[in-house]
Amino acid sequence: MKQIALVTGASGGIGLATALELAKLGYGLRIVGRTPAKLDAAVEKIRAITSDVYGYRADFSSLAEVRTLAETLLSRDEPLNVLVNNAGVWNAEFRRSADGYEDTFAVNHLAPFLLTQRLLPRMRQTDGDRRIVHVSSRLHRQAGTAKSAMSRLFNVLNLSALLPNGGPQAVFDFDALDRDIDYRGLEAYARSKLAQVIISAEFARRESEITSNVVHPGSVQTDVTRGTKWLYVLKPISRPFLRTPAQGAATSVHVATAPELAGETGGYYVSCKPARAAAIASDPDVGRRLWDLSVEWTA
Ligand SMILES: NC(=O)c1ccc[n+]([C@@H]2O[C@H](COP(=O)([O-])OP(=O)(O)OC[C@H]3O[C@@H](n4cnc5c(N)ncnc54)[C@H](OP(=O)(O)O)[C@@H]3O)[C@@H](O)[C@H]2O)c1
Repeated sequence: MKQIALVTGASGGIGLATALELAKLGYGLRIVGRTPAKLDAAVEKIRAITSDVYGYRADFSSLAEVRTLAETLLSRDEPLNVLVNNAGVWNAEFRRSADGYEDTFAVNHLAPFLLTQRLLPRMRQTDGDRRIVHVSSRLHRQAGTAKSAMSRLFNVLNLSALLPNGGPQAVFDFDALDRDIDYRGLEAYARSKLAQVIISAEFARRESEITSNVVHPGSVQTDVTRGTKWLYVLKPISRPFLRTPAQGAATSVHVATAPELAGETGGYYVSCKPARAAAIASDPDVGRRLWDLSVEWTA
Protein backbone atom coordinates (compact mmCIF):
# COMPACT_ATOMS: atom_id res chain seq x y z
CA MET A 1 0.00 0.00 0.00
CA LYS A 2 1.18 3.54 -0.74
CA GLN A 3 2.79 5.34 2.18
CA ILE A 4 1.18 8.59 3.28
CA ALA A 5 3.00 11.58 4.77
CA LEU A 6 1.41 14.58 6.44
CA VAL A 7 3.45 17.80 6.53
CA THR A 8 2.21 20.87 8.40
CA GLY A 9 3.32 24.36 7.41
CA ALA A 10 3.84 23.08 3.87
CA SER A 11 2.37 26.11 2.11
CA GLY A 12 5.91 27.48 1.79
CA GLY A 13 9.47 27.42 3.11
CA ILE A 14 10.98 24.26 4.56
CA GLY A 15 7.62 22.48 4.78
CA LEU A 16 6.89 22.78 1.07
CA ALA A 17 10.43 21.65 0.23
CA THR A 18 9.96 18.67 2.58
CA ALA A 19 6.65 17.75 0.93
CA LEU A 20 8.14 18.01 -2.57
CA GLU A 21 11.00 15.71 -1.63
CA LEU A 22 8.68 13.18 0.03
CA ALA A 23 6.50 13.24 -3.11
CA LYS A 24 9.60 12.46 -5.20
CA LEU A 25 10.28 9.50 -2.88
CA GLY A 26 6.81 8.13 -3.69
CA TYR A 27 4.73 9.20 -0.70
CA GLY A 28 1.16 10.41 -1.00
CA LEU A 29 1.09 13.91 0.50
CA ARG A 30 -1.36 15.58 2.85
CA ILE A 31 -0.27 19.12 3.49
CA VAL A 32 -1.49 21.78 5.89
CA GLY A 33 -1.17 25.55 5.55
CA ARG A 34 -2.84 28.64 6.91
CA THR A 35 -3.00 30.94 3.88
CA PRO A 36 -5.40 29.57 1.23
CA ALA A 37 -3.66 31.03 -1.87
CA LYS A 38 -0.25 29.75 -0.73
CA LEU A 39 -1.73 26.37 0.12
CA ASP A 40 -3.35 26.04 -3.33
CA ALA A 41 -0.09 27.01 -5.04
CA ALA A 42 1.82 24.44 -2.95
CA VAL A 43 -0.65 21.69 -3.84
CA GLU A 44 -0.21 22.53 -7.54
CA LYS A 45 3.59 22.31 -7.24
CA ILE A 46 3.38 18.91 -5.55
CA ARG A 47 0.80 17.75 -8.13
CA ALA A 48 3.49 18.09 -10.77
CA ILE A 49 5.16 15.14 -9.00
CA THR A 50 2.20 13.11 -7.70
CA SER A 51 -1.56 13.25 -8.18
CA ASP A 52 -1.92 11.89 -4.63
CA VAL A 53 -1.84 15.25 -2.85
CA TYR A 54 -4.48 17.06 -0.79
CA GLY A 55 -4.24 20.41 0.97
CA TYR A 56 -5.95 21.32 4.24
CA ARG A 57 -6.30 24.81 5.67
CA ALA A 58 -6.02 25.35 9.40
CA ASP A 59 -4.88 28.16 11.67
CA PHE A 60 -2.83 26.64 14.47
CA SER A 61 -3.60 29.67 16.63
CA SER A 62 -6.93 27.95 17.23
CA LEU A 63 -7.15 24.55 18.89
CA ALA A 64 -10.70 24.21 17.53
CA GLU A 65 -9.26 24.42 14.01
CA VAL A 66 -6.68 21.77 14.89
CA ARG A 67 -9.44 19.46 16.17
CA THR A 68 -11.45 19.98 12.97
CA LEU A 69 -8.33 19.35 10.89
CA ALA A 70 -7.68 16.07 12.72
CA GLU A 71 -11.30 14.98 12.25
CA THR A 72 -11.13 15.76 8.52
CA LEU A 73 -7.88 13.84 8.15
CA LEU A 74 -9.21 10.88 10.13
CA SER A 75 -12.33 10.79 7.94
CA ARG A 76 -10.04 9.69 5.11
CA ASP A 77 -9.84 5.93 5.34
CA GLU A 78 -6.09 5.62 4.83
CA PRO A 79 -2.87 4.92 6.72
CA LEU A 80 -0.54 7.56 8.11
CA ASN A 81 3.13 6.62 7.99
CA VAL A 82 4.90 9.94 8.48
CA LEU A 83 3.89 13.08 10.37
CA VAL A 84 6.16 16.11 10.02
CA ASN A 85 5.23 18.75 12.60
CA ASN A 86 6.84 21.63 10.72
CA ALA A 87 4.48 24.63 10.96
CA GLY A 88 6.02 27.39 13.04
CA VAL A 89 5.87 31.07 13.81
CA TRP A 90 8.07 33.74 15.41
CA ASN A 91 6.02 36.60 16.89
CA ALA A 92 7.91 39.82 17.60
CA GLU A 93 4.99 41.19 19.65
CA PHE A 94 3.05 39.43 22.39
CA ARG A 95 -0.14 37.87 21.01
CA ARG A 96 -2.69 35.54 22.46
CA SER A 97 -4.02 32.58 20.52
CA ALA A 98 -7.75 32.10 20.02
CA ASP A 99 -7.68 29.98 23.19
CA GLY A 100 -5.85 32.63 25.24
CA TYR A 101 -2.34 31.12 25.27
CA GLU A 102 0.86 32.93 24.26
CA ASP A 103 0.60 32.51 20.49
CA THR A 104 4.14 31.30 19.69
CA PHE A 105 3.77 28.52 22.24
CA ALA A 106 0.25 27.74 20.99
CA VAL A 107 1.24 27.47 17.30
CA ASN A 108 4.66 25.83 17.70
CA HIS A 109 3.90 23.46 20.56
CA LEU A 110 0.24 23.11 21.62
CA ALA A 111 -1.17 22.73 18.09
CA PRO A 112 1.25 19.98 16.97
CA PHE A 113 0.89 18.29 20.37
CA LEU A 114 -2.90 18.13 19.93
CA LEU A 115 -2.70 17.13 16.26
CA THR A 116 -0.27 14.32 17.10
CA GLN A 117 -2.48 13.03 19.92
CA ARG A 118 -5.55 13.01 17.65
CA LEU A 119 -3.73 11.25 14.79
CA LEU A 120 -1.97 8.67 16.97
CA PRO A 121 -4.75 6.04 16.75
CA ARG A 122 -4.48 6.18 12.94
CA MET A 123 -0.69 5.86 13.07
CA ARG A 124 -1.02 2.92 15.48
CA GLN A 125 -3.38 1.17 13.00
CA THR A 126 -0.90 1.72 10.17
CA ASP A 127 1.43 -1.18 9.34
CA GLY A 128 5.20 -0.94 9.17
CA ASP A 129 7.52 1.94 9.82
CA ARG A 130 5.83 5.00 11.39
CA ARG A 131 7.69 8.17 12.19
CA ILE A 132 7.01 11.58 13.70
CA VAL A 133 9.43 14.41 12.97
CA HIS A 134 9.32 17.65 14.94
CA VAL A 135 10.95 20.63 13.25
CA SER A 136 12.48 22.57 16.13
CA SER A 137 15.51 24.84 16.08
CA ARG A 138 18.94 24.99 17.64
CA LEU A 139 17.59 28.14 19.33
CA HIS A 140 15.81 25.75 21.75
CA ARG A 141 19.15 25.79 23.60
CA GLN A 142 18.65 29.47 24.29
CA ALA A 143 15.38 29.13 26.20
CA GLY A 144 15.61 30.61 29.67
CA THR A 145 19.16 31.89 29.12
CA ALA A 146 18.20 35.33 27.83
CA LYS A 147 19.65 37.16 30.83
CA SER A 148 23.03 37.67 29.16
CA ALA A 149 23.24 39.62 25.90
CA MET A 150 26.65 38.03 25.28
CA SER A 151 25.35 34.47 25.54
CA ARG A 152 22.39 35.43 23.32
CA LEU A 153 24.73 36.77 20.67
CA PHE A 154 26.97 33.68 20.84
CA ASN A 155 23.92 31.45 20.51
CA VAL A 156 22.44 33.33 17.54
CA LEU A 157 25.85 33.11 15.84
CA ASN A 158 26.06 29.40 16.72
CA LEU A 159 29.25 29.99 18.70
CA SER A 160 28.06 28.85 22.14
CA ALA A 161 30.61 26.05 22.11
CA LEU A 162 33.24 28.76 22.63
CA LEU A 163 31.69 29.77 25.96
CA PRO A 164 32.72 27.97 29.17
CA ASN A 165 30.72 24.68 29.44
CA GLY A 166 28.99 25.48 26.15
CA GLY A 167 27.31 28.58 27.61
CA PRO A 168 24.27 28.78 29.89
CA GLN A 169 22.07 25.67 29.85
CA ALA A 170 18.49 25.91 28.58
CA VAL A 171 15.76 26.07 31.20
CA PHE A 172 12.05 25.57 30.62
CA ASP A 173 10.39 28.39 32.54
CA PHE A 174 6.81 27.22 33.11
CA ASP A 175 6.00 30.53 34.83
CA ALA A 176 6.98 32.58 31.76
CA LEU A 177 4.41 30.98 29.47
CA ASP A 178 1.77 33.56 30.15
CA ARG A 179 3.96 36.59 30.83
CA ASP A 180 2.93 39.47 28.56
CA ILE A 181 5.14 42.10 30.20
CA ASP A 182 8.80 42.03 29.23
CA TYR A 183 7.89 39.76 26.28
CA ARG A 184 10.79 38.93 23.96
CA GLY A 185 10.02 37.27 20.63
CA LEU A 186 13.30 35.38 20.59
CA GLU A 187 12.79 34.01 24.11
CA ALA A 188 9.19 32.96 23.34
CA TYR A 189 10.34 31.28 20.12
CA ALA A 190 13.20 29.49 21.89
CA ARG A 191 10.84 28.31 24.67
CA SER A 192 8.33 26.95 22.14
CA LYS A 193 11.13 25.15 20.29
CA LEU A 194 12.43 23.69 23.57
CA ALA A 195 8.90 22.49 24.31
CA GLN A 196 8.98 20.52 21.04
CA VAL A 197 12.32 18.92 21.99
CA ILE A 198 11.12 18.01 25.50
CA ILE A 199 7.83 16.56 24.21
CA SER A 200 9.51 14.54 21.48
CA ALA A 201 11.80 12.94 24.08
CA GLU A 202 8.85 12.30 26.39
CA PHE A 203 6.86 10.80 23.50
CA ALA A 204 9.79 8.48 22.77
CA ARG A 205 9.80 7.36 26.42
CA ARG A 206 6.06 6.61 26.29
CA GLU A 207 5.66 5.08 22.83
CA SER A 208 7.29 1.94 21.49
CA GLU A 209 5.71 1.55 18.04
CA ILE A 210 6.06 5.01 16.53
CA THR A 211 9.35 6.86 16.48
CA SER A 212 9.69 10.52 17.44
CA ASN A 213 12.69 12.65 16.58
CA VAL A 214 13.53 16.34 16.43
CA VAL A 215 15.47 18.22 13.77
CA HIS A 216 17.13 21.59 13.41
CA PRO A 217 16.95 22.51 9.70
CA GLY A 218 19.86 24.98 9.80
CA SER A 219 19.50 28.68 9.06
CA VAL A 220 17.28 28.77 6.00
CA GLN A 221 16.07 31.46 3.57
CA THR A 222 12.37 31.52 4.45
CA ASP A 223 9.73 33.89 5.79
CA VAL A 224 9.91 32.68 9.39
CA THR A 225 11.43 35.97 10.59
CA ARG A 226 8.78 38.13 8.85
CA GLY A 227 7.38 39.24 12.25
CA THR A 228 10.76 40.62 13.38
CA LYS A 229 11.75 43.78 11.53
CA TRP A 230 15.50 43.73 12.33
CA LEU A 231 15.89 40.10 11.28
CA TYR A 232 13.76 40.62 8.18
CA VAL A 233 15.86 43.63 7.14
CA LEU A 234 18.98 41.48 7.47
CA LYS A 235 17.45 38.81 5.21
CA PRO A 236 18.88 40.00 1.86
CA ILE A 237 22.35 40.53 3.40
CA SER A 238 22.35 37.14 5.11
CA ARG A 239 21.00 35.27 2.05
CA PRO A 240 24.40 33.97 0.84
CA PHE A 241 25.03 32.42 4.27
CA LEU A 242 21.66 30.71 4.53
CA ARG A 243 20.51 27.32 3.28
CA THR A 244 17.90 27.02 0.56
CA PRO A 245 14.54 25.56 1.66
CA ALA A 246 15.48 22.29 -0.08
CA GLN A 247 18.75 22.14 1.88
CA GLY A 248 16.81 23.01 5.03
CA ALA A 249 14.35 20.18 4.35
CA ALA A 250 17.09 17.58 3.96
CA THR A 251 17.30 16.67 7.66
CA SER A 252 13.49 16.36 8.03
CA VAL A 253 13.37 14.08 4.97
CA HIS A 254 16.34 12.04 6.19
CA VAL A 255 14.82 11.48 9.62
CA ALA A 256 11.40 10.72 8.09
CA THR A 257 12.66 8.17 5.56
CA ALA A 258 16.23 6.90 5.97
CA PRO A 259 16.10 3.08 6.26
CA GLU A 260 19.00 3.09 8.74
CA LEU A 261 16.89 5.21 11.14
CA ALA A 262 14.03 2.68 11.34
CA GLY A 263 13.24 2.21 15.03
CA GLU A 264 15.52 5.07 16.11
CA THR A 265 13.62 7.33 18.48
CA GLY A 266 14.13 10.19 20.92
CA GLY A 267 16.95 11.73 18.89
CA TYR A 268 17.92 15.23 17.77
CA TYR A 269 19.39 15.70 14.29
CA VAL A 270 21.28 18.53 12.63
CA SER A 271 22.58 18.35 9.04
CA CYS A 272 21.29 14.74 8.83
CA LYS A 273 23.47 13.67 11.76
CA PRO A 274 22.66 12.92 15.40
CA ALA A 275 23.42 15.90 17.62
CA ARG A 276 23.06 16.73 21.30
CA ALA A 277 19.90 18.55 22.37
CA ALA A 278 19.72 20.70 25.49
CA ALA A 279 20.26 18.52 28.57
CA ILE A 280 16.86 19.41 30.03
CA ALA A 281 15.17 17.46 27.22
CA SER A 282 16.26 14.21 28.80
CA ASP A 283 14.88 15.10 32.25
CA PRO A 284 11.85 12.79 32.69
CA ASP A 285 10.34 14.98 35.41
CA VAL A 286 10.26 18.01 33.12
CA GLY A 287 8.97 15.84 30.25
CA ARG A 288 6.16 14.40 32.37
CA ARG A 289 5.17 17.83 33.72
CA LEU A 290 5.06 19.46 30.29
CA TRP A 291 3.19 16.47 28.85
CA ASP A 292 0.54 16.52 31.59
CA LEU A 293 0.08 20.29 31.28
CA SER A 294 -0.12 20.05 27.48
CA VAL A 295 -2.85 17.41 27.81
CA GLU A 296 -4.73 19.73 30.18
CA TRP A 297 -4.25 22.83 27.99
CA THR A 298 -5.43 21.06 24.81
CA ALA A 299 -8.38 19.21 26.44
N1 LIG B 1 14.05 29.25 8.51
C1 LIG B 1 14.93 28.94 9.46
O1 LIG B 1 16.11 29.40 9.45
C2 LIG B 1 14.54 27.99 10.57
C3 LIG B 1 15.52 27.65 11.52
C4 LIG B 1 15.17 26.77 12.54
C5 LIG B 1 13.89 26.25 12.60
N2 LIG B 1 12.96 26.61 11.67
C6 LIG B 1 11.60 26.02 11.78
O2 LIG B 1 11.24 25.46 10.53
C7 LIG B 1 9.83 25.40 10.44
C8 LIG B 1 9.38 25.93 9.09
O3 LIG B 1 9.65 27.32 9.05
P1 LIG B 1 10.09 28.10 7.73
O4 LIG B 1 11.44 28.63 7.99
O5 LIG B 1 9.85 27.29 6.53
O6 LIG B 1 9.10 29.36 7.82
P2 LIG B 1 7.94 29.90 6.85
O7 LIG B 1 8.45 30.05 5.48
O8 LIG B 1 7.41 31.09 7.56
O9 LIG B 1 6.87 28.72 6.88
C9 LIG B 1 6.11 28.50 8.04
C10 LIG B 1 4.95 27.61 7.70
O10 LIG B 1 4.17 27.48 8.90
C11 LIG B 1 2.85 27.93 8.61
N3 LIG B 1 2.25 28.62 9.76
C12 LIG B 1 2.70 29.71 10.40
N4 LIG B 1 1.81 30.11 11.33
C13 LIG B 1 0.78 29.24 11.24
C14 LIG B 1 -0.46 29.12 11.93
N5 LIG B 1 -0.84 29.99 12.87
N6 LIG B 1 -1.27 28.11 11.59
C15 LIG B 1 -0.94 27.24 10.62
N7 LIG B 1 0.20 27.30 9.93
C16 LIG B 1 1.05 28.30 10.24
C17 LIG B 1 2.96 28.87 7.46
O11 LIG B 1 1.70 28.94 6.79
P3 LIG B 1 1.26 30.19 5.87
O12 LIG B 1 2.50 30.66 5.17
O13 LIG B 1 0.24 29.55 4.99
O14 LIG B 1 0.70 31.23 6.75
C18 LIG B 1 4.04 28.19 6.63
O15 LIG B 1 3.50 27.15 5.87
C19 LIG B 1 9.28 26.21 11.62
O16 LIG B 1 8.86 25.35 12.65
C20 LIG B 1 10.49 27.02 12.07
O17 LIG B 1 10.42 27.34 13.44
C21 LIG B 1 13.25 27.47 10.66
